[in-house]
Order: sequence, then structure tokens, then C-alpha cells
Amino acid sequence: MADRKIDPETGTETTGHDWDGIEELNTPLPRWWLWTFYGTIVWGVIYVILFPAWPLVNGATSGILGWSTRGDVAAETERVALSNADMNDSLVAVDLAALEENEDLHRFAVQAGASVFRTYCSQCHGAGAAGVQASGYPNLLDDDWLWGGTIEDIVYTVRHGIRNEDDPDARWSEMPAFDGILSDEEITAVTHHVRSLSDLEHDAEAAAFGSDLYLDNCASCHGDNGLGDRFVGAPNLADAIWLRGGSQEAIEAQLRAPRHGVMPPWGERLGEAEVRAVSAYVHGLGGGERPASE
Ligand code: HEC
Ligand code: HEC
Repeated sequence: MADRKIDPETGTETTGHDWDGIEELNTPLPRWWLWTFYGTIVWGVIYVILFPAWPLVNGATSGILGWSTRGDVAAETERVALSNADMNDSLVAVDLAALEENEDLHRFAVQAGASVFRTYCSQCHGAGAAGVQASGYPNLLDDDWLWGGTIEDIVYTVRHGIRNEDDPDARWSEMPAFDGILSDEEITAVTHHVRSLSDLEHDAEAAAFGSDLYLDNCASCHGDNGLGDRFVGAPNLADAIWLRGGSQEAIEAQLRAPRHGVMPPWGERLGEAEVRAVSAYVHGLGGGERPASE
């Protein structure tokens, strides 16, 4: 190994390594590079002091600023809740009939209601609210209502539910089973009459025979002309919309062993603001029925 010396060509010191006369220059690092390097070290130390950095068994060192992604989310959630709090208060206070006139509040309610619906209602009524006939979950998109389609009616239905054991104010009614009350022949005849109400194919003679049976046994709930009665949630039998199907078999099955839809109450679970929001959303879907006095 030769001694270090100054290279005459470049004026730079050599490292002292010498391989068969080839020597290595000890070129210093460029200043800008060196300072950047020191800078990153200083920055790293400051970062470790201020922010979460070193991984530990459960989490990481927290840093003196106390910042965390979770804290960020919590602050953001708080901000949204605060900005919604005013709206929710107004929604709870507003006279339901006047909700639609208050455009901002109505828009807020419908949007909030849509997300409530997705979370709590769609498993039965379907994501698009079209219902599931096989299970007796009504379509909420049409303007045909079992229990009423004004915003007040819908709020009541949602708040208390239907035929559930949990809420003493739930909507309630029960269609009697006619198996044993009417003979097989009479059940078939009254079914022909029911189908005649909405102009479905039927046997005119049987329907005429069934007509009196209908007036005696069914009209108290479904109305003389089959238009239904919202007071007892009895469906309109004279329109083309069926809760459980309008075939001869489906109607006879409902007469022999009536099925009854059950819906849970939402008042306590969701709170008044969300009940009103989701009702405003559903009211809009159904075309928005107004109170009869208007
Ligand atoms: C467990 C299933 C289920 C869930 C969940 C459910 N519903 Fe229902 N809902 C029903 C059934 C069944 C009926 C029909 C009851 C009947 O036959 O009278 C009904 C009826 C209704 C009606 C009355 C329709 C009419 O024609 O009068 C409204 C309004 C309604 N639901 C809204 C909602 C809203 C809003 C939610 C979510 C907060 C919801 N439902 C959640 C099962 C459900
Ligand atoms: C005490 C009231 C009451 C009486 C009486 C009654 N019903 Fe009903 N009916 C109802 C109710 C309530 C429903 C809805 C049940 C449900 O939740 O699905 C219903 C449902 C029906 C349906 C299914 C409608 C659809 O859209 O799918 C038919 C059909 C029907 N009734 C026919 C009759 C006939 C025919 C009679 C007489 C022989 C009769 N009902 C007597 C209350 C009554």
C-alpha cells in the first residue's frame, strides 16, 4: 500500500490504495448531498418525537402531538354529527305536514332516510324498495298503501311497526281463517268473485254466487267494492296490485290459512329524527300521498 498523496491531475487526495499503479481518488461527497443527508436525519428525529413512529407490541410510540388516524376520523365524525344536529333537531320539531315545504330540511331528510333505508329496511323491502311478494313484503314504490300513504301514516307505521309483540301501539288486524267457516265450494266461489273485482279471468256464475258470500264475510274489512280498508290494513282487492298474489291458488290459500305480515317497530331503535327521515324517503318513493283534506 502506497502513502496518501495529492493527485496532480485533479488536486484530490488519494485513498492510498494502489493496484499495479492504479490509484483511487478520495473524492469528497458534494456539499449539497451531505447537507440533505444531515437534514433527513434531523427531520427523522423530530418526526419520531412528534408523531407515532416506533412499532411496539400493541401499537406504536404515540409522539407528543398525540395525532392519530383514529383521532382524525373521530374529529370528522364529530364535525358531521354537529352539523347534522341542528338539522335533526329541526326535523324532530317540524310539523310533518309542512316538511315538504321546507326544501332544505326535506332534502336533508330524504338523503339521510335513504341511507337508513339501506341499512335497516332493505333486507325485507328490497334494496330498491320493490318488496318481495313471496314473503308478503310490500312494494313501497307504488302508491298503493295497506295502512296509509301520508307522511303521518308512514311515520306511525315505521315507529310502531305492524303486528309485532314488542310495541303495544303496533298496527294490528287479523284476517280470519275461512277454512271450516265456508265450504270448499264457497271458498272457490268467493275467490272467483275477488278475481272479478280486478277483471281477472273468472267464472261469472261462480262469481255471482260468491258475491253474497263476499258481502257477508269480507266486506267489513275489504269494503263492499273490494277497495280495502286502511284502518285494518286490509288490501285493496280491486286493483292489479297483490300483496300475496292474485292467482286462484294464492287467493284460496289466503282464505284458508291467512298469512299476516309482521314488521318490527323502529321508534326506539332509530329515534325520532331517523324515523322521520326514512319516512320522508319512503313517502317520496310512493309518489307522496297528501292528507285527504288538501
Ligand atoms: C322484518 C322485515 C321488515 C323490515 C326489516 C321492515 N319492514 Fe316494513 N313491512 C314489512 C311487512 C311484512 C309489511 C307488511 C305488513 C302487512 O302485511 O300489513 C311492511 C309494511 C311496511 C309499510 C306499510 C306499507 C303500506 O302499504 O302501508 C311501510 C311504510 C314500511 N313497511 C316501511 C318500512 C321501513 C321504513 C323500514 C325500515 C326502517 C321497514 N319497513 C323495515 C316487513 C319489514
Ligand atoms: C278482519 C278483517 C278481514 C276480513 C273479514 C277479511 N280479510 Fe282479507 N285480509 C285482511 C288483511 C288484514 C289482509 C292482509 C294480510 C297480510 O298482512 O298479508 C288480508 C288479505 C287478503 C288477501 C290478499 C290480498 C293481496 O293483495 O294479496 C285476499 C285475497 C283477501 N284478504 C281476501 C279476503 C276474502 C275473500 C275475505 C272474505 C271471505 C276476507 N279477505 C276477509 C283482513 C280481512
